[in-house]
Formats: sequence, C-alpha cells, structure tokens
Amino acid sequence: MSLRVVVLISGRGSNLKAILETDDPLVDVCAVISNRANAKGLDYAHSCNIPTEVMDHKKFNTRFDFDAALWQLIDTYQPQLVVLAGFMRILSPEFVTHYQGHLINIHPSLLPAFKGLHTHERVLKAGVNIHGVSVHFVTAELDAGPVIIQAQIPVLPEDDPETLATRLLKEEHRIYPQAIHWIAEKRVQLVKQQVFLDGKPLSYVLPDNYPMGD
Ligand code: GAR
Repeated sequence: MSLRVVVLISGRGSNLKAILETDDPLVDVCAVISNRANAKGLDYAHSCNIPTEVMDHKKFNTRFDFDAALWQLIDTYQPQLVVLAGFMRILSPEFVTHYQGHLINIHPSLLPAFKGLHTHERVLKAGVNIHGVSVHFVTAELDAGPVIIQAQIPVLPEDDPETLATRLLKEEHRIYPQAIHWIAEKRVQLVKQQVFLDGKPLSYVLPDNYPMGD
C-alpha cells in the first residue's frame, strides 16, 4: 500500500512538482493545500488531478484557530505524512504535536545553521564556501528538528543569491522525493529526536568552522 501524503504549499510549488514528477509508486499525494489562493503550485496539482484546498490564514483571528482548522482539513484526507513544501507559516506547538513524527519540511540551509528566511543572502554575506539544504522532521522550533537528509553545494565566487538559489533548488528537488521514498519504504524512524535510517542513527556534521548564521 502506498503512503498517503498531504502537501502544504504557499507559492511556486517547485518542490511539490518534483515530488509529483517522481511518480513514486509508494507515494500517493492525496491532496495539496495552500494558505494562498494564488499559489502557482495549485495549478500544477490541478493538472495532475490532485484535490486542492485553499485555507486563507488571514480569515482567522489567531494562529491557533488557523492551525486547528488546517489540521481538521488535513485529517479529512487521513494522511500518513504531511509534507511542508514552501509552506511559509510558523506552526503552533499544538499543530506540530498533532503530527509528531509525521510532519516534514525542507529548508534551504545546512541546519541547524541559517534557520529562518533569506538563507542564500545570509550565506553569501557570511562568506562561507559551502551551502546546502535539509529535509527534517518538524518540531516546535522554527526550521529546527532532526535532519533526515542533507545536500551540500559549493558557493562559487561569482554567485549571487539567485544563482545560488537556482543551483540549490536542483538538490532540493532530488532530496525531497528521496526522503519521502525512504519514509514510504518504512526505513526511517524518529525516536526521541534522533532519526534512524535502516536502524542506524543518522548524524550530519557541519563543515569545519561553519557559522550558525545568527
Ligand atoms: C524552497 O526553496 C524551500 O526550501 C523554501 O521555500 C522554497 C519553496 O519553493 N522553504 C523554506 O524556506 C522553509 N523555511 P517551492 O514553492 O518552489 O517549492
């Protein structure tokens, strides 16, 4: 049986597209939900005949009200995994707890370094020569949480934020479907904030003297 997945997006949806184009027989994307009606990724989901939903966070008084309505909507699809793919909302601890171990995110940095926004600009400003991307289980802390897979790319002398983002995106599109595939194969376990792959603990070490980007 394939893994039932709900994908949450806010915009372009290129990671969603990469996941769908992989056409993994072990993965069934049963819905795509956006907090923005004009998210481009919704068009692609439509073209694949995948049910889409829009839940506008601006229509809710509090973060918790939005999150509670969101998880109720998500749960109508009975997913086994919720995938954040450029979903640009901070999620409440209650939401995160509700999906503990079943909620993953992709973040364009070598976590735990460079959490937050504008990572490409900040990496260039910090003058490091390696950048990267992480897929991780979501915990209550923003862009934190145990890493499932990372990819690194070199920062080239001629790079600007756009060239860096473009090269990194290729790696995003490779590792996100890979992480979901491992989960669908039941090869990944999260035990007390430690990720195991095939029963072996995973650990990702930052390059020497790598700044945290604070
Ligand atoms: C991706 O680069 C993803 O890593 C980033 O947003 C972009 C979404 O692009 N996510 C974050 O910054 C999360 N903190 P996409 O809509 O084309 O997939």
